[in-house]
Amino acid sequence: MNSRPNRRTFIKTASAGMAGATLLGAARGLSAPSNRLNAAVMGVHSRGGVLATSFARAEGCEVTHICDVDERAIARSIPEVTEANGGRTPTGVVDLREVLDNPEVDILVIAAPDHWHAPAAIMALQAGKHVYVEKPCSYNPEEGEMLVQAQERYNRVVQMGNQQRASVESAQIIDAIRQGIIGRPYYARAWYANNRGSIGRGQPADIPDWLNYDLWQGPAPRMPYKDNLIHYNWHWFWHWGTGEICNNGTHEIDVCRWALGVDYPIRVSSSGGRYHYEDDWEFYDTQVASFDFEGGKTITWDGRSCNPYPVENRGRGASIHGEQGTVVIDRDGYTVYDQDNEEVWKRSKMSGEASLDIRGGGGLTDRHIANMLQTIRGEGVSQYSPIDEGHKSTLLCHLGNIAQETGRTLHCDPANGRILDDEEAMKMWGREYEPGWEVKV
Ligand SMILES: NC(=O)c1ccc[n+]([C@@H]2O[C@H](COP(=O)([O-])OP(=O)(O)OC[C@H]3O[C@@H](n4cnc5c(N)ncnc54)[C@H](O)[C@@H]3O)[C@@H](O)[C@H]2O)c1
Repeated sequence: MNSRPNRRTFIKTASAGMAGATLLGAARGLSAPSNRLNAAVMGVHSRGGVLATSFARAEGCEVTHICDVDERAIARSIPEVTEANGGRTPTGVVDLREVLDNPEVDILVIAAPDHWHAPAAIMALQAGKHVYVEKPCSYNPEEGEMLVQAQERYNRVVQMGNQQRASVESAQIIDAIRQGIIGRPYYARAWYANNRGSIGRGQPADIPDWLNYDLWQGPAPRMPYKDNLIHYNWHWFWHWGTGEICNNGTHEIDVCRWALGVDYPIRVSSSGGRYHYEDDWEFYDTQVASFDFEGGKTITWDGRSCNPYPVENRGRGASIHGEQGTVVIDRDGYTVYDQDNEEVWKRSKMSGEASLDIRGGGGLTDRHIANMLQTIRGEGVSQYSPIDEGHKSTLLCHLGNIAQETGRTLHCDPANGRILDDEEAMKMWGREYEPGWEVKV
């Protein structure tokens, strides 16, 4: 039978966790840059605009190129980045390949739509660049596997944009969980609740003169342009996007995976649908997915795109449940409860990133970027989000979509997450490419 901890035991374990976390924090401390790194940012309409100014402000880094297929986005971004660069003006470029041919560029930052993430990252690695790739790092499982292989082959730093990995508070509490603050953790619940409107029914339309739609599509087989796709709404179309689970589940499921210390699942199932509106949205506005792991551990995802009622008073977050207590965690901090549901420990700090603002940005993003730059410079830090870890969390999200789409429980190989004995489900592992844009490692 499990022993029930009292408040003193909790606080003792918590302090042990804190001590470990402090040491970890010191080892990750910032130090002066040794040489300047040049970054190019791909896709600056929204998230990429935040990343561009954050990279430009970072110690020892300059944003030398702004790459976008929307000329208006380039024009808007250049003055912002010039200011953040300390007065140095970046060059605007439409075609990514021009950036990759430039030997002065050290890092490609990718905030284009999801169908571009792994193809652009692999092209950049082949051109000798380091890569910061927004989440999800892949459009499908095969692209995630290829990206991990490419990182190994070309031996550059690849960091995924799951910036909660840069949170001091999250690292502390996960360290404390490892040290037993809630006993053996066995269940983690991830959620996201927003109030997104309908995307309506798109109509065929002329391609706007500010947009290079051919390059926007890039590796994806060509589809006619319509007026409810660009920007942002591509998230909800299978041809380019990956749905809410890959959009926001990648953050919260990643925290759950981190807390439970699990890698690939043995079983995945999903329920839900597009319940709220009847429109072009092809994914689910309501999804409840579950992931079982060897050793008796489960993660669930509760994703609501069109109903903002919070869980634990938060629109996004995770709770980790163990044999002796519970931790509720988000980008601002955490609260620990004992088995009597009494609060025993709380820590919070406004990160500026816990809101549902679709651009993100704030202290965690800055720290995540600083960590990547330090990793590139070999400053002895441990990388917050190496791509093989980013891939594991992204793969869970893809598997959730595949389980939902096939309507079946998936059984997976715990060594690599591949789906067992289900050819139809495995058809969703990869994609067809536009001729000339095939992805090869
Ligand atoms: N980590 C976070 O907190 C966070 C927050 C928001 C978005 N994101 C991620 O960032 C990515 C972008 O999201 P968004 O909301 O900014 O999307 P968006 O549609 O608003 O912007 C995408 C931009 O990419 C550009 N683009 C498309 N193809 C391009 C190409 N070939 N070359 C250069 N630019 C190209 C578009 O013109 C546009 O400016 C998504 O993958 C999303 O998941 C991450």
